Amino acid sequence: MKALQERIRQQGEVLSASVLKVDSFINHQVDPVLAMEIGQAFAEHFQGQGITKVLTVEASGIHFAMAAALALKVPFVYAKKKKAVTQNEEVYAAPVYSFTRQETYQISVSKRYLDGNDRILIVDDFLATGAALLGLKEIISNAGAHLVGVGAVIEKSFQEGRRKLEEAGVYVHSLARIQSMSPEEIVFIDEAAAPKETASV
Ligand code: G4P
Repeated sequence: MKALQERIRQQGEVLSASVLKVDSFINHQVDPVLAMEIGQAFAEHFQGQGITKVLTVEASGIHFAMAAALALKVPFVYAKKKKAVTQNEEVYAAPVYSFTRQETYQISVSKRYLDGNDRILIVDDFLATGAALLGLKEIISNAGAHLVGVGAVIEKSFQEGRRKLEEAGVYVHSLARIQSMSPEEIVFIDEAAAPKETASV
């Protein structure tokens, strides 16, 4: 998605070899116009596949899941990271190891909102190690639902998330795939794959 790649180039800050700060438009302050375009792009890519629900994990996936769900005209559900006092019903739960916080936490979804008839599209802001997304896959599998695919807004392709998901049989579609990044340059995969003379067109 060219508009997204341009935005990442203009406003993304590469904090280290593996961390990209995009909190001026993706995951702190949010550009709602771009978020809706992202949702539309996911809906167009996955249309015709009988998706019944979009699933994400709080917090930064929520606005993109909502945008995709609105375009697909289905509900979206977000997995919770902490059990709320109102969440007294039974839940599907899975452990997720956070490499950034170096701890394991539980994500959960009420059994009322997923069932064996559901065909699920997972949407999230980042595909990095894939830990959270594999946790969502486990929840979908526990519910007996079908995982149609994963839509990631930004994929850091130099990390292992895509490989792990594909090895687990999951189809992945990312709107911006970062092959490599440094404070001087961010290289996206479609550009890296293009012949040198057409890469900048
Ligand atoms: P994932 O690939 O399944 O997302 O899992 P991972 O454990 O690698 O990522 C942990 C958290 O760090 C996730 O958010 C993820 O979105 C975020 N993250 C990973 N790489 C980057 C990065 O380069 N830049 C930024 N800004 N975030 C990154 P989270 O902890 O679940 O938090 P949130 O969704 O509540 O914001």
